Parts: sequence; structure tokens; C-alpha cells
Amino acid sequence: MVAALALLGQVGGLGAIASMVFVATVTAVSLVIADRRAEVEQDAAASSALAPAAEAPPYSALINALPDPILVISALERDDLTGRRYIFANSAARELFRIEAGEGLLVSVMRDPQLLEAVDLALFEARDAEAVYETGGAQSRVLRAFVRPIGLALDGAHLALLSLRDETELRQVERTRVDFLANASHELRTPLASLAGFIETLRGHAKGDEGARERFLGIMQAQAERMNRLIDDLMSLSRIELHEHVAPSDRVDLCGVVADVVDAASPLAAERGVKLQVQPPSDAEALVIGARDQLVQVVQNLVDNALKYSSMGHVVTITIGTGQSAEACTAAIRLEASRLSLLTPDHSSDTYAFVRVRDQGPGIEREHLPRLTERFYRVEGQKSGERSGTGLGLAIVKHIINRHRGGLAVESVRGDGSIFTVYLPETAAGSGRPAQRRESVMEM
Ligand SMILES: Nc1ncnc2c1ncn2[C@@H]1O[C@H](COP(=O)(O)OP(=O)(O)OP(=O)(O)O)[C@@H](O)[C@H]1O
Ligand SMILES: [Mg+2]
Repeated sequence: MVAALALLGQVGGLGAIASMVFVATVTAVSLVIADRRAEVEQDAAASSALAPAAEAPPYSALINALPDPILVISALERDDLTGRRYIFANSAARELFRIEAGEGLLVSVMRDPQLLEAVDLALFEARDAEAVYETGGAQSRVLRAFVRPIGLALDGAHLALLSLRDETELRQVERTRVDFLANASHELRTPLASLAGFIETLRGHAKGDEGARERFLGIMQAQAERMNRLIDDLMSLSRIELHEHVAPSDRVDLCGVVADVVDAASPLAAERGVKLQVQPPSDAEALVIGARDQLVQVVQNLVDNALKYSSMGHVVTITIGTGQSAEACTAAIRLEASRLSLLTPDHSSDTYAFVRVRDQGPGIEREHLPRLTERFYRVEGQKSGERSGTGLGLAIVKHIINRHRGGLAVESVRGDGSIFTVYLPETAAGSGRPAQRRESVMEM
């Protein structure tokens, strides 16, 4: 057993480790059973394999401490369903199956037909078997069950070892990956199909039609640009994710970031008849530790959205603030609004600097708020003008802010605009260290 565990450290790969744990456990459980036989002979009262760890033989203690649920099952006859019993359950198994007694009827703790079938294969056909077991309920977990025969007990009962491995997270990751691929291909296929259609038309019945050609080429160009944007956003997202765990190290002034974004967005704002207004902080600057290009990308996405959903005559206000607590950054601005924190910093900082983008557009219904930062999520039926987005903007924003250990909150009133607030740990001028809280409160 010790040798087997020592080997574990040298074997690479999860599969190999899992099967080594299994082998080690089978060996240890056999020893537990042997220990137990000796106990039975000495003292019937001491036969419980669920004895407290301090009094238990070392192998029991070892198996009890394993994070994966493990049970030993015994059965005399194939036809006798009530003869299938669990005779040992480690702590994780007792928790999973809510087992209180030291041993008992197998069907009283598990009824899943696939799992019971796998157990029978190991018990009566001496074969290794696997099954997927779902716990059900509101927080259902998915576990993979491995069952192995472990020989006969003194009374001739067949014995099997059942161990379970939690695969819930693995499945979620896999589902996210599949959804992402399906969404990305769908988003690319739409403009591609439109391009192919127009090429066919231009070669066919619109061949000699000068007017149609100009019009179609314009649409084709817009579709090609959309595909370009989509690929740029996808690449950007994967680059950001790749470096998300590496904290940025430059000192960046958010006032400069906002000024750059406003300069770049001004022509589009003028074209749409929307006024861009900046409310600077009471301090001359708002310093954070960050990656400037990424922070520009964050503010650009928020301003871009605000402009996209604004109408002629609306005002988009960008407020920069300093010296605030996280609670102050996310506090209600309009009491009647729906409000949600889309990202909360996991390490709290003393003070935060924030950039808040407020528009007078249609607002976002409460039920959409939790999904805004999902990749490709767009609110159905919203008018976004001729420049419809890819639904990746806010996903990019969230990942960048996460890298900066900051937070993101949204507040919205239907018909009366949205407010997005990004807040980032602040640095005192010239220090490179987090700043002390100041009591200046910014006006909205
Ligand atoms: N200021 C806003 N007002 C109203 N709805 C908004 C606003 N900002 C975002 N939304 C909604 O959230 C959705 C997701 O926004 P996101 O920025 O991720 O995608 P997008 O703007 O559609 O595309 P992209 O940013 O990739 O060009 C938008 O499609 C829109 O429905
Ligand atoms: Mg956007």
C-alpha cells in the first residue's frame, strides 16, 4: 500500500493517478477487511468498520480520509436483492449517501439501476464495471462510479469495492466548450452564408445590373467587416484569458484612458447626434495598476454600447471617481433601478477608482442582467442601429477587469438608460502601493 502510494507521486496523468488510487484503495480495503475479520473473531462488538478514526486500524483511517466516496459491498445470492449490503463506507460516502449506520441494505442508500447493475457485474461476474451516477436535486452532482470485485468474505459472500469520482465541474467545462464552439460557428456562418448568396446573385441574374452590384458589394463589405470584428474579438478574448492570472504592473491614469476613448468615439457620437460628457475626478488623476491597452478596451466597449443604444439628442456621461470603497462604487444611483454586480473582486482593496458610463437609452430588463457578460449574449429585439454587435464586448470587459482584480456593476431602468460601473484597486500617486481611503464622494 505504502509502495503504491509512493508510486502515485511518480505517475503522470490524471487517469493514471486515478487508477493508481483505485488499486491502492482495493489493496487497502482488502487489508481493512482482513483486519476486520480478526476483529470479528476477537470481539463481535468491535466489528464496526465505522469505528472512530483514533481507534480504527491505520488502513481504515486512511480510506476514511480519502476525498472520494468509497463503499465495500457484499452479497451472497444474485437473486436475493435484500442480501446486497454495504459493510463499509468512508466519510465521503457517508456524506454523499447520507449514511448513518455502520452497515445496511444497499437499496436503502442507492436505487440507481445503472449503478446497481454495475455493482452486480463486479459481485457476481467478477468484472470491473463503471456507471454514471447523478445525485439529482437542486444542486445535482455527476459522479463516475467504478466497481471492482475484491474476492470472497469468510462466510462466502461476494465482495465488491465501489468508488465514486465527482465529474460535475469537468462536465460543465465540457458543456461550455461545446456551447462556445456552436455559438462561434453559428456567428461566423451567418455572414458567410450572406456573402456566398450575394456572390451567386452577382454571377447570375444581377450580372449586368450596375446599381445592384454597387448595393450588393456594400452589403458584402459590411458582412466581411462583421466577420473580421468577430474574429478579432475571439482572438482578443483568448489572449486575455491566457494572461488572466498574470496581474498587470503598469501605473495607469484612468483620466487619460477615458480621454483617449472619448477622442476616438467623438466622430461616431457626432454622427449619431449623441453628446459625450466627461465628469473628471476631484483629484487631477485616477491612478490604478493596470495594462493601459486593456483598460482602453474596457472603457471603449462600455462607451460603444452606450452610443449604440442611444438616440439622437441623448447624452452619454462618463464619470471618473477616486477614493471609494467597493460598496460606494456599487451603491444605488436610482432607487427604482434593477441592479446587479457582474463581477466582485475576490481580494478587497482599501480604495477603488472607478469609471462609470451612463446612457439615456432603452435600459435593460432585470432578467437579462445576469447574462450580459456571457459570450455571444445579446438582448433579443433591441435596436442597436446598423452596427449590430457580436455579443462578446462585455465578456471581454469582464475578463480584463478580473485580471485587474476589479469589479463591474450594472444598474438599469427600463426606458431610462443603463449605468455600467468599473472599479479598480487604486494606487496613491507615486507610491505603487494601494491608496488609503479618502472621503471625497463624487457627484453623478
Ligand atoms: N448600454 C446598453 N444599453 C442597452 N443594452 C445594452 C447596453 N450595453 C449592453 N447591452 C445589451 O447587452 C448585450 C451584450 O453586450 P456586449 O457589449 O457584450 O455585446 P454587443 O454590444 O452586442 O456586441 P459587441 O460589443 O461584441 O460589438 C447587447 O447586445 C445588448 O443587448
Ligand atoms: Mg458591445
